[in-house]
Amino acid sequence: MAAQLHADVLVVGSGIAGLTAALRAARSATVLLVTKADLAQGATRSAQGGIAAALGPADSPDQHARDTRAAGVGLCEDEAVRVLCGEGPEAIAELIDRGVRFDGAEGPGGAYALCLEGAHGRPRILHAGGDATGRAIQRALGAAAQQEARIVVREHTAVVDLLVEGGRVVGAELMAADGSHLRARAAAVLLATGGAGQLFSRTTNPRVATGDGIAAAWRAGAALEDLEFYQFHPTALARPGSFLVSEAVRGEGAVLRDEHGRRFLPEVDQRAELAPRDVVARAIAQVMTAQEGRSVWLDATALGQRHLRERFPTIDAALRAAGIDWAREPVPITPAAHFMMGGIRTDLDGRSSLPGLLAAGECARTGVHGANRLASNSLLEGAVFGARAADAAAADAAATGVAAADVVAADVAAAGTVLASAPSPTGWTRTQLQGLMWDRVGLLRTGAELEAAAAQLATWQPPGPETLTTITALEDRNLLDLARLLTAHALARPVSVGAHHRLDSPSEVLAC
Ligand code: SIN
Repeated sequence: MAAQLHADVLVVGSGIAGLTAALRAARSATVLLVTKADLAQGATRSAQGGIAAALGPADSPDQHARDTRAAGVGLCEDEAVRVLCGEGPEAIAELIDRGVRFDGAEGPGGAYALCLEGAHGRPRILHAGGDATGRAIQRALGAAAQQEARIVVREHTAVVDLLVEGGRVVGAELMAADGSHLRARAAAVLLATGGAGQLFSRTTNPRVATGDGIAAAWRAGAALEDLEFYQFHPTALARPGSFLVSEAVRGEGAVLRDEHGRRFLPEVDQRAELAPRDVVARAIAQVMTAQEGRSVWLDATALGQRHLRERFPTIDAALRAAGIDWAREPVPITPAAHFMMGGIRTDLDGRSSLPGLLAAGECARTGVHGANRLASNSLLEGAVFGARAADAAAADAAATGVAAADVVAADVAAAGTVLASAPSPTGWTRTQLQGLMWDRVGLLRTGAELEAAAAQLATWQPPGPETLTTITALEDRNLLDLARLLTAHALARPVSVGAHHRLDSPSEVLAC
């Protein structure tokens, strides 16, 4: 018999969306926050460039919204964009209240340092610790959550599946790192489990980004949308691990060159290195194809050693560790899977199509990103929609009153059912799946390649119930489910738009 936990609101995931949601819901509800690894793991921590908000003197939420819609190639939902950009400044103020110290603004009347990134018409990216914005946010929100008496945090615990009764989500079956199972019942379940960069062999995402919440929501019957829109970041270090080299580096003036030292982006788009991310990533992929796979080069040498070290301390340290002195030599780079625009379809309050289930952050498809996300809108989405989803979850919990008011978390590990350790899935490996997705469902797609990928994926079996005994096996099941879904969504959109680029079809031109 698996141990049982109760809370008004179960939040799954501990990045900016999950922590914001947990803190907000705890104003009026008891919260159980479960996360698959340490509280601090996840994509938020490695976000570098920053968080966008219309705070500059010559800026406005309307202009931010215009840039967001233009980057999204006409597929953004207007109302969602209006909420994101309109509530952005308030979300930043709340982060500052929680202790996040953004760069600049020293002394009374000081202004925050706002920088430029691709497809932004104004400098509007706040950053912290130079290029350690996500780390600063993660630290501040994580500390606040751990101090909050109404939040119980349970680390190293993954979702196996959602519990659905009478068409309503009433909790989740969970697995601890030792393989023991437990159940959490809650009046509302809020998924903030992030994206699924581990679908691809090159990704800037952390190891935990395996799309667990999206896959579990789909198995429970929730509607998913826009899965074909997967954003590839243009500039990951072309070394194992695909370390992110922030778009902000181009915002400061770095340029991209092919292997002959020639800048190629001015011919592609008049915004050159600051064109939207899908345009830049695609141009790099095309140059790399012409160069038989060899990387292109990010040239930041004109920025000078002192500026690079002070403005980008994290990247500077990582490149030095890789033996690259970027003040003197260009950096070999490649696109890498970075952000999932699609996911669990939600309304403006994070409610999914299934009663009792909400989602926020990268796992949610709010409609703000359309076919291509504007740089630095992801942390903002987590903060804005994490808070809105939490308010809705707390209200639903108060209205239904299904769960117990107090979180019961005692003796869970001891009481859990420990199962035998898992064999790996038969017939395929995660590395094979990632290679298939990269080669056939990646940045440049064709119908024939997508068909071939779908056929291959159909032959691979998910780990059966008897082998779902480790978190790794759960992740493999989720990755296979999502690989099939993403491929099916890509096949269902025969024209190119934004991040979904079909080499065998014309672009769909949509009004922005
Ligand atoms: C970056 O710093 O380039 C990544 C930020 C983002 O994904 O918006």
